[in-house]
Formats: sequence, C-alpha cells, structure tokens
Amino acid sequence: MIIDQLHLVNFKNYRESSFSFSPDLNFIYGENGNGKTNILEAISILCYTKSFLMNSESDCLKYGEEAFEIQGIFKNRVESKNKVSLVYKKENNERQLLSDGEKVSKTNEYIGRFPLVVLSPYDLKLTMGLQQERRRNFDLLISQVSKVYLNDLRKYQKIIKQKNSLLKENTISKRYSYNELKELIGIWNYELLDLAVKIMLRRLDFTEEFRSYMNSSFSRISGLRYIPVIIYQSDLLDLNGINGFDDLKNLLQKILDEKLDTEIKRGASLVGPHRDSYVFCMDKNGENFEMRSFASQGEHKSFVVSLKLSEFDYINENLKHTNTGKPILLLDDVFSELDKNRIKRISEFINEFNQVFITSTDIEHLKILKNDLRDTKSFHIMNGSSEMIV
Ligand SMILES: Nc1ncnc2c1ncn2[C@@H]1O[C@H](COP(=O)(O)OP(=O)(O)OP(=O)(O)O)[C@@H](O)[C@H]1O
Ligand SMILES: [Mg+2]
Repeated sequence: MIIDQLHLVNFKNYRESSFSFSPDLNFIYGENGNGKTNILEAISILCYTKSFLMNSESDCLKYGEEAFEIQGIFKNRVESKNKVSLVYKKENNERQLLSDGEKVSKTNEYIGRFPLVVLSPYDLKLTMGLQQERRRNFDLLISQVSKVYLNDLRKYQKIIKQKNSLLKENTISKRYSYNELKELIGIWNYELLDLAVKIMLRRLDFTEEFRSYMNSSFSRISGLRYIPVIIYQSDLLDLNGINGFDDLKNLLQKILDEKLDTEIKRGASLVGPHRDSYVFCMDKNGENFEMRSFASQGEHKSFVVSLKLSEFDYINENLKHTNTGKPILLLDDVFSELDKNRIKRISEFINEFNQVFITSTDIEHLKILKNDLRDTKSFHIMNGSSEMIV
C-alpha cells in the first residue's frame, strides 16, 4: 500500500494543507517545531486509527478550533484506490472514520488495511522502557497481519478490564463475600482462558518466526557478530517446552487457581498475557545479556533499528500473497539520533522498501538517501505549511 494524497484541516499546526506524495521516497525537511512529525502522525492515524505517539485526538486538534479532518487516498498494488478520512469533533469528543464515504464502525476490520512501520526517536526507548511498550509494539505488529490475533486480543482485554474492575471495586466496597467473589472471578477466568492461551501461543510462534528477520537485519545494520534475541516469557509459568494448546491451557488454569487468593488480596488480575514480557537480549558468544541492563547506547540503537526493519520484512512476508503488499515506512528524525554509518546502512536498504517518509532538519541529508532508482519528492515545511520542491 502507498498513500498517494493527504489533506489536513485544523490538524495540529496545519490550517489546511494538501500533499501529493511520491510512491517511493518522500523527504520532509524544515526547522524544529515547524510540523514535520505532525505529517507522519496524521499518516499513522489513518493507518493505525491512532497516533504512533499515542496522542489523543483532542491533542491533535489545532488550538482554538472545533474539529479536525485527516483525509487520505491510498493505493494498493493493483492501483485500486481507497479514500479514507478521520473527522474529530471537540463537541462530544467524537471521532468518525470513513472509508470511501462509509462509516467504519469496527476498527478491528480496518487495522492492517494500510500496514505501517514507524521508527522514531520515541522507539529508541523500546529496549530500555516499560514492558507495556514492548507488548504494545508487538501486538500492533502481529495485529497488522492477523485479524484473528487482533480480535482475540480485544476480547481478552475487555474481559481483563471487567475482571480487574470487579477485583478492585470489591477491595473497597466489600460487596461480595470471599466465596461469592471467588465464584465470580472463576467465571471470568473461564471466559478468558482459551483466549489467553491463543494469544500466548501466537506470541511464542511470533518470536520464533521473527528471529531470522532480526538476525539478518541486525548484522546488516550493526556489522556486529552478536545475535539479537527476543524471548517471550511469563513470570508465573515456564513457557519452555509447552506442548500445544491443551498443555498450556492446563498449566494456565492451574496458575489461575493458585493465584486467585493473591488476586483477590491485591485487587488486580496478575495472571495472563497482559502481564507477560518480551525480553530483549544480546547473545555474545553463547551467553545472553539483557539489553536493558547491559547494552551500550550504540547497541540499543542498532537493536531498535534492526527491530523496525525486521518488522518491515515480517509484514512484507506475511502479506506477500495479498494485494496489500509491503508496508509504508515512516522514519522520523533518524538523522539526529543515528550516526553516519547506520544511516548509510539504512540508505542501502532504501531500494528494498516500499513508500518511505523521512523527516530531517537538514536538506543535505537528502543527498545520502537519493538515488536514481527512487522517485523522490521533497517537502519544505515552514510553520504548518508546505512547499514541494521537485
Ligand atoms: N494542537 C495543536 N495545535 C496547534 N499547534 C500544535 C498543536 N500541537 C502541536 N502543535 C505545534 O506543532 C509544532 C510541532 O510540530 P512537529 O512536532 O511536527 O515539529 P517538527 O517539525 O517535527 O519539529 P522537530 O524538528 O523539532 O522534531 C509545534 O510548534 C507545536 O506547538
Ligand atoms: Mg519532529
């Protein structure tokens, strides 16, 4: 998929702007605070239905305005067009997503239509930051290639929310006796068990499949001979040697029963994939070092950059038999964060990519990226308006 046209109305610092993009390389440059990242954010909202920076719609509404609109025209491999728009109204805090004029009521069915991979300075914290961010990152990735996963995940999250509010509420209100509560939680546990097992197995399969992508992109980006390792693990149960659905289901059921008392005491649900971890390590000569504690700044960067390039390959491979094809790639401000060597290496990948958007404060960076094979458009952004330089 590529995005051919973008039209913004009252989105952040844009009053009304239109962009006609190259199907290959789009270079967006301008000084700090002029609105480069805002363009990428608008694209991410159309693809993910949410901002990659996790801003809410109200944050994106231009100061003092009542409504914003983001409109995009996407094209797939066979050039068939899809016009989508997202309108947000401050009154009622209401948002509406339209696809070719029709209201999209289920975002589950929409996500994955325009696959997207983003690398921004924000992602450079993935190796160091919270577990929740790593889970969210991979959930979004797997969801873009699997509707089944996304549906299971959403159903599971709904149940966990209800289970949590029951547990939490009862610590204060003491509305139910211990035995009553135990019975009620048992019902939620029954509801969530199969979903939890499916999600965990999918994540285990994913980490297995993802390994080869990580290996090859890491060696290309860093030139190091270490092996990047991503381990999916649960604090409460050993996922090594799990033998299929029933095996994991029995194990999880056992832990859910064992931890029921603790869950009631703490007023929170403690068992299940919403608490599991992705651990990032570096295998140096057969020994695993956890990134969070041991990696150097440069190793963190190489890890995250190869992670994102692997995401591109993973989506590409999983969707190669569909008309959707390769994902769009957004590289926000990578020049300020990465050294010349890594940028050079990324630019060597550039012909393998699909449509790419790169922001930078320096037009000189275009020289590193530009080559005869790619159709390139440059946009000079000045205070929420754009001038296209061909
Ligand atoms: N809701 C809003 N309404 C109006 N302007 C906004 C809103 N939210 C952010 N802005 C403005 O948008 C600008 C930031 O835009 P953006 O982050 O796209 O800049 P940038 O060009 O990527 O800068 P940098 O090079 O520093 O990353 C800021 O000047 C900010 O004040
Ligand atoms: Mg920016």
